[in-house]
Amino acid sequence: MGLTIKGTGMYVPDVIADNDDFAKIVDTSDEWITTRTGIKTRHITNGELAFQMGAEAARMAIKDAGIEVEDVDMVLGTTVTADCLTPSMACLVAKEIGIEDAVCMDLNAACAGYVFALDIAQKYLECGDCKTVLIVSSEIVTRMVDYTDRSTCVLFGDGAAATVVTKGDGLYSSVIKSSPQGADKIFTKLPVPENPFKTGTADWGDERMNDAPTGFMQMQGNDVYKFATTAMPQAVEAAAEKAGISLEEIDLIIPHQANIRIVQTAMKRLKMPKEKCYVNIQDYGNISSACIPLGLCQLKEQGQLKKGDKICVVGFGAGLTYGAAIFEW
Ligand code: UT7
Repeated sequence: MGLTIKGTGMYVPDVIADNDDFAKIVDTSDEWITTRTGIKTRHITNGELAFQMGAEAARMAIKDAGIEVEDVDMVLGTTVTADCLTPSMACLVAKEIGIEDAVCMDLNAACAGYVFALDIAQKYLECGDCKTVLIVSSEIVTRMVDYTDRSTCVLFGDGAAATVVTKGDGLYSSVIKSSPQGADKIFTKLPVPENPFKTGTADWGDERMNDAPTGFMQMQGNDVYKFATTAMPQAVEAAAEKAGISLEEIDLIIPHQANIRIVQTAMKRLKMPKEKCYVNIQDYGNISSACIPLGLCQLKEQGQLKKGDKICVVGFGAGLTYGAAIFEW
């Protein structure tokens, strides 16, 4: 059983920071950021919360799908930067858009979150427990950005995208995976709770994690880079094999937008022409799990998706997680 992306929506904050803005706060340059990452600008929250951005994107997706809020029976939130530890962002989005009764939950698979959500949505649709899944991917990555660390602060932006997903007849396959031994390659620690009874000290079992400050993302960029350039092609190949199609039959790849060089290397390894790959990193930077659905929304709005197109979405992220899904438009 396939799936249909019935509607798409997106929301990005109005505040935009370009590379020259970053050159004023850390030792960097437009030249370095552009050539090493492909990023030119990123949108940054001006007070909007993740659930509010998600709700805006969700409203747009529901309207685009031509359905009513009442039709949604599952809300899957994907985020690593939710506004609350509890309740889930999905619950907050559902409350905001007026949903009375639906399964609401978040999943955290970092930047691969949207691919993981598609995999789960398809399974719920296939078993019949749900008929209409609203995937809301909303991230305020700047919430955990250290603006004194030039190696990470220039990379990330904020934004949200949503898709309404229902059953479909076309081709579908997805493969989701994790390499948890790389869990220390990207992480953001929460503070260890203080309480009147505590006498011990937390030990993360890892020197780097013990030493890291709380609240700010820590990343071993080179290791993540190497992982991504291997994991992305592997995931695409595995999804194509599962779907029973060749790589040539894929019409369009929408990859996670972390670094233009990662995307180009992955496409080269797949021996796929770069024209088949959608890139918007120059405008938004890395918005974690929102990158891929935002790309889908833009492509749909631009009328660039044709019925029957075989689309492959592929992502990787902290965890380390990775995966790809192939579906017919
Ligand atoms: O969504 C998943 C999350 N993350 C990622 O996907 C990130 C994956 N990794 C990457 O995209 C790249 O590794 C980075 C963009 C993070 C870094 O690029 P790189 O080409 O791997 O650079 P590097 O870390 O090897 O650093 C090269 C040099 C260093 O200087 P020295 O030690 O050679 O003097 C860095 O200090 O570039 C320096 N550098 C910068 N210079 C100017 C690092 N960041 C900056 C900067 N501006 N913003």
